[in-house]
Amino acid sequence: MTRRGAIGSAALATAAATLPLTLSDAEAVNNGGPATVDPKKVTPRSLPPFRPVPAGKADAMTLPQGYRYQTLAPWGEVFTADGREIGFNHDFIGYFPIDMLEGGSSSTDALLTINHEYVNALFVGGDTKERTGAQIEAEMRAMGVSVVRVRKEGREWRIVPDARNRRIDAMTEIELTGPARGSAAVKGATTVRGTIGNCSGGQTPWGTLLTCEENVDGYTKAWPGTGYDAMHQGWVTEIDPFDPAWMPKKRTAMGRFRHENAAVTVAKDGRMVVYMGDDMQDACIYKFVSRGRYDPANRAANRDLLADGDLYVANFGNGSWVLLDYAKNKKLQEARAADGKALFANQADVLADARASALAVGGTPVDRPEDIEIHPRTGEVYASLTNNAKHGNYFGQIIKFRETGDDWTAQTFLWDVFAVGGPQSGFSSPDNLVFDPYGNLWMVTDNSDLSTNPIKAYHGNNAMFFFATEGPNAGKAHRFAIGPVDAEMTGPVWSPDGKTLFVSIQHPGEDSESLDKLTSSFGARPGSRIPRPTLVAIEGFPGWRV
Ligand code: FEO
Ligand code: CA
Ligand code: CA
Ligand code: CA
Repeated sequence: MTRRGAIGSAALATAAATLPLTLSDAEAVNNGGPATVDPKKVTPRSLPPFRPVPAGKADAMTLPQGYRYQTLAPWGEVFTADGREIGFNHDFIGYFPIDMLEGGSSSTDALLTINHEYVNALFVGGDTKERTGAQIEAEMRAMGVSVVRVRKEGREWRIVPDARNRRIDAMTEIELTGPARGSAAVKGATTVRGTIGNCSGGQTPWGTLLTCEENVDGYTKAWPGTGYDAMHQGWVTEIDPFDPAWMPKKRTAMGRFRHENAAVTVAKDGRMVVYMGDDMQDACIYKFVSRGRYDPANRAANRDLLADGDLYVANFGNGSWVLLDYAKNKKLQEARAADGKALFANQADVLADARASALAVGGTPVDRPEDIEIHPRTGEVYASLTNNAKHGNYFGQIIKFRETGDDWTAQTFLWDVFAVGGPQSGFSSPDNLVFDPYGNLWMVTDNSDLSTNPIKAYHGNNAMFFFATEGPNAGKAHRFAIGPVDAEMTGPVWSPDGKTLFVSIQHPGEDSESLDKLTSSFGARPGSRIPRPTLVAIEGFPGWRV
């Protein structure tokens, strides 16, 4: 059985008979979602399929010759029968082929999930000093996740009506699962209100979204009287785009921190492995290994897999994974705060402050881990360390690590530096990553100081870069696309045939002083200059060629 067969586009029913699984490469290509080719069968291609563009500062989407884009699902577009709108500041995009649960992999019809990370008060709800209840509600409604049916008709992608189109926002009821459910750490809660700070994420082979709650602090103050509780945020939330009746689940077994991403794969023995970063200066990289095993024929059971498992933190000093288990690790039992009080009383406490737990057991603080992805051909794990001004690392780097025995459940690994930001490479502050099946890496940057910081003058606007990972050009950055002014491109995902690349355009015009002094009008409605976060669907790719 091939790795491809593990999630197989037409093999869901028969795959169960051929367990144990090996690696599911096709998932690794695409944020965990399906692709239509087996990376083991393609020839590595180390040159970009485009003529690179020079750095630029236009308020536009700039692409190489032969490529085009359209906007899709901008903020404010009504897309549900009950009048809900697409949220603000699009980030991770999940691509779920509409026929996925029947074993299909449509590249022209899908449920997209769009993360909405945060709001800019200038554009959402009105920028006034005294914020009203209506403004707060508008903000709560603009975050979370949109589930949107899209279809390609002719040359154009369009939103189409579907009973599964819906919003999950800061008000939606969500169930807590795992060791922290009902614990003192979450004030006894078993269900909580809302998901916020939805940054990057991942897709499971059983067709659910993992949305990651990143920057969740500050809302207790911003949203007074709403019952908002920071301990109920900062988790990974699992959402089933195909089943609106299934209450979303927060997976406390995966820890609470500034969750950037969730890179999902299936280990040789069928356990699920999820790599995750804590996007903060001097914070750590984690992996979760499920207790149970993936069964392609039992979707209902798979939807419980992430409720139970082991959480590890990476020690890059000796290449080891350290288990965060209160019962098994004396350092967790003995950890003390500055005032001498015990930091943790049980496993729920350990998970609810995974950052403190990680540092207590020797997890290595690194330079703001952003996205993590798994190489579809080698199984190596690539991670963006975006920057860390505390240590003079202003440009960031991409690292990669290889698990011992090529087993994602291994306790040890070796690691290397893949590419380093700076004028010599042309990029700075790497953020989201996505592979193609040839093993080429596509990366988008997140610099927030491009217009003001002279050391970033070489960079132009935030951009998307292509890297070969094998051959003589490995690690060399080629600029593919440039985003509009003050924007960051986020959440790239391929259609399974590799002909469309969906990318979010987040916070265009973010540094605008007022609605009269806009720095961007990207995504604006006809007759308006107010910029809107949106998806773009980029076309012109040859698609995967086996
Ligand atoms: Fe939401 Fe760390 O980027
Ligand atoms: Ca990010
Ligand atoms: Ca990614
Ligand atoms: Ca970022």
